[in-house]
Amino acid sequence: MALLTGSNKKNVAVFISGTGSNLKSLIKFSKLKKSQIIIKLIISNNSKAKGLQYANIYKIKKKVFDFKNTLSEKKVINELKNNDIHLICLAGFMKILSKNFINNFKGKILNIHPSLLPKYKGLNTHERAIRNKDKYSGCSVHIVNSRLDSGRIISQKKVRINKFDTPKTLAKKILTKEHKLYPAAIIKALSL
Ligand code: GRF
Repeated sequence: MALLTGSNKKNVAVFISGTGSNLKSLIKFSKLKKSQIIIKLIISNNSKAKGLQYANIYKIKKKVFDFKNTLSEKKVINELKNNDIHLICLAGFMKILSKNFINNFKGKILNIHPSLLPKYKGLNTHERAIRNKDKYSGCSVHIVNSRLDSGRIISQKKVRINKFDTPKTLAKKILTKEHKLYPAAIIKALSL
């Protein structure tokens, strides 16, 4: 196996809107010797996102853009290109990216979604799984295309729903799985 050094690791940008627990797990993964990635940039549409603290803690460049129009997205695209970003990981990023943006990074944007896709695209996944009395839910990492939560699925992890689960307890169980799934899915995606 080729030795992965700082110079041949892939630059990754992580997009967040909130807590950033997936971001934190990706940063930890990136610091492992065997990891193929460097988190070079953290981007948020929300200047108050709690997860932005990890930029300070781990000394990673952070930028906030509102993603409200083409001009704003253009600035993001420039930032990504200037930083030689190879892969974009959406991690709790609550904005829908434009077709133009996605075309600029075709096949190079991953998203993590808290359901077993293709079930429950969009929001309130845990409520919907419990309401439908599903036995299992879980999380999925997929490639982002122009249709919401619909791109090729890279990896999934199942979680059993028990009769005492609420959307909150289920979200917590799934989030723990997400933290393992995302790094594993990145390894897989980089080998495709
Ligand atoms: C995760 O459940 C993710 O699947 C969803 O939003 C949540 C983000 O959590 N898209 P965090 O900000 O990574 O803690």
